[in-house]
Amino acid sequence: MAKGGYVPKTFFVITMGCQMNEYDSDFLARTLIHDGFLPSDNPESADLVLINTCTVRDKPEQKAFSALGRMGVIKRRKPDMILGMVGCLAQQYGAKLLKRFPQLDLVLGPRELSRIQDVLKSLGQGRGKVVATDLGMEMSRPLSFRHHFRGRITGSISIMNGCNNFCSYCIVPFVRGREISRPPEEILIEAENMISDGIKEIMLLGQNVNSYQWGKKDNWNFPSLIREVGKLKGLLRLRFATSHPKDVSFELIRCFRQVNTLCPHLHLPFQAGSTRILQRMKRDYTREEYMELVDNLREVRPDIAITSDVMVGFPGETEKDFEMTLDLVERIRFDALFSFKYCDRGGTLAAKMSDKVGEKEKASRLSVLQELQKRISLEMNKDLEMKQLDVLVEGQSKRGDQLTGRTGTNKVVNFTGDINKIGSLVKIKIKHGFQNSLLGEFSGDANPSFKTEVLAPPSTVYT
Ligand code: SAH
Ligand code: SF4
Ligand code: F3S
Repeated sequence: MAKGGYVPKTFFVITMGCQMNEYDSDFLARTLIHDGFLPSDNPESADLVLINTCTVRDKPEQKAFSALGRMGVIKRRKPDMILGMVGCLAQQYGAKLLKRFPQLDLVLGPRELSRIQDVLKSLGQGRGKVVATDLGMEMSRPLSFRHHFRGRITGSISIMNGCNNFCSYCIVPFVRGREISRPPEEILIEAENMISDGIKEIMLLGQNVNSYQWGKKDNWNFPSLIREVGKLKGLLRLRFATSHPKDVSFELIRCFRQVNTLCPHLHLPFQAGSTRILQRMKRDYTREEYMELVDNLREVRPDIAITSDVMVGFPGETEKDFEMTLDLVERIRFDALFSFKYCDRGGTLAAKMSDKVGEKEKASRLSVLQELQKRISLEMNKDLEMKQLDVLVEGQSKRGDQLTGRTGTNKVVNFTGDINKIGSLVKIKIKHGFQNSLLGEFSGDANPSFKTEVLAPPSTVYT
């Protein structure tokens, strides 16, 4: 615990969980730097360590506790270090965390992060440990931090927080609170600041971006926000995540034809291939509706990549239900699929359901599903061999001897090229398609207007 008057000077943030948590960690870093802190390379030399946590499934929760254990060991050696747990797990357990882990100094829920400066001040004055887990409706984030994104090519903006959907398995509405959108002016200023710092690609984030709304008559919705951000000068690419299938409107689908900067990629979690299970999950769409939606998207934007989330072993999932999931995966052919074993989350409806699927069965279903997707991902990436794709160069590859970037469809491409191309759109001829990436060859600069092909007019309702 910090002694009276002591002000920490360096910080380290550990992040786990979804992209929204990454955004929140970035927000914390921006706030702390603005306040005169310096980022530290490692927790051992930091005066302040914050663990930004996730509780959506067992695994991220265990990860958070083991990070806390490791940081606790460091703190025993350095008692003046301030140790905090923030984010969704912090929200879930609140004050109980302080009791269980006496080495913690602060616990902040995701809606309390903008209080970090005051909390540190109070700790510095020796006023005791702080727990703040209010889920009030405010989502104000100061915008005055410039130059934070220098040197980066991609960045994200949280456009909303929370979720009103209460899917029966999900803890997010409990730990992130009710859905609240950020004012469009704030989002546009943040985007402009990022672009002037050199950001070329912006990702708009929310648990369910399609229900974004702002204004008395809801005169701002998600498609109108996309159109406004998408036309900002200097922006090469716009992405967003995540979409709930029930809220994908015609207007949004039209954006994939009309907004040049909008990348041809949609992450559209389907969760289960059986309508019966989808109903128990409270997902509000059927298997057929999901497949029709994907057909419509592909008709409007034939090159669109569809990725998804799915879980196996939801309570009551029979072998037949599971086969319907496999069948849907075969039919849709997702570009990438994130698959999970269902796990109980305290307080959710599904946790109270009695017909649980055994651990062994869940593990075996998961491995069958993952093998299927591996084959499909490989086949889809092999189909790209000899094709020329536009790639935004993001930096050097992990191995360091190549450059790395992504296609509009969000596939990682590695190639040999000039380091000065980082931040540019280039044309890459694909030589090899692997399961999770592509290997290509530089074949010239790409047109920043980013259109890869002229789209055929849609034949159905979308005109
Ligand atoms: N907002 C997004 C996803 C949020 S959580 C959406 O609406 O789809 C990310 C993924 O974690 C979910 O898509 C789901 O596949 C998985 N997930 C959520 N709760 C889970 C649970 N209790 N057990 C297993 N997987 C879960
Ligand atoms: Fe969870 Fe459903 Fe909300 Fe996604 S839409 S965050 S899965 S409750
Ligand atoms: Fe996890 Fe919270 Fe995101 S529970 S998935 S970090 S909203």
